[in-house]
Amino acid sequence: MKKELIKIIKEAAKILKEGYYKNKKVSFKAKKDLVTKYDVAVEEYLKREFSKTFKEFNIIAEESDNSNLEFNNSIIIDPIDGTTNFVNGVPHTAISVGVYKNKKPFIGVVYNPILDELYYAKVGKGAYLNGKKIKVSTQKEFQKALISTGFPYTSGTNKKDLNLVVTQIKSILPACQDIRRLGSASLDLCYVAKGVYEGYYEMNLKAWDVSAGIIILTEAGGKVSNEKAEEYTLFKDKYIVATNGKIHKKLLKHF
Ligand code: IPD
Ligand code: CA
Ligand code: CA
Ligand code: CA
Repeated sequence: MKKELIKIIKEAAKILKEGYYKNKKVSFKAKKDLVTKYDVAVEEYLKREFSKTFKEFNIIAEESDNSNLEFNNSIIIDPIDGTTNFVNGVPHTAISVGVYKNKKPFIGVVYNPILDELYYAKVGKGAYLNGKKIKVSTQKEFQKALISTGFPYTSGTNKKDLNLVVTQIKSILPACQDIRRLGSASLDLCYVAKGVYEGYYEMNLKAWDVSAGIIILTEAGGKVSNEKAEEYTLFKDKYIVATNGKIHKKLLKHF
């Protein structure tokens, strides 16, 4: 499956890359939630090619109506993760594809075509960046940990979510090395996987934001849970907490 999967994603990435260097018309799904014709075009290409090649899977995708689809043997697509970066010309944006068999993780691919960085992992086989094995960092001290996060789109309209974001930063920022917010959940997880960040957390994410990244991070030796240290469940949990494993408990204390 690997070869065909990557071939299709790299082909779709040409559409993303073409759009990245153009002036784009932006539509709003909600106050902070942007979409462009390129999000839709990348998604349509991936859906068409995946459904021809991988007939045993259904396809769940951000810009589609998924209401009649059951999560089981599924390919979960985020056509452009980091649309705000894509629109504004921040080269931190990616196609994210997670493959699940019987709801269980199978393969994760995250591809940033602007930097030509392809993250790949298959369960039990390790995680790779452009073919080279990657591993999480060995940092144990929370004070030396670089933590990444994201701000939910709901923070523009929902006071409670905004207050939660502020409360967590107030608690975590003084205790760690520093905090980053680069604007792509799939790449945030890959950056923990390759040892750039020690940890990452965010609330209100959707399955397509993290379906691939959690496979890549787990295969790189990291740990993923919800805020109560329980197994993170796609389509259900409010928080994702993802780390190199060594600082996991220390990060969880802040929730
Ligand atoms: C968003 C990005 C961002 C995160 C948002 C996501 P999108 O995805 O992953 O980093 O903070 O919560 O929704 O909308 O650019 O695909
Ligand atoms: Ca979006
Ligand atoms: Ca996303
Ligand atoms: Ca998206």
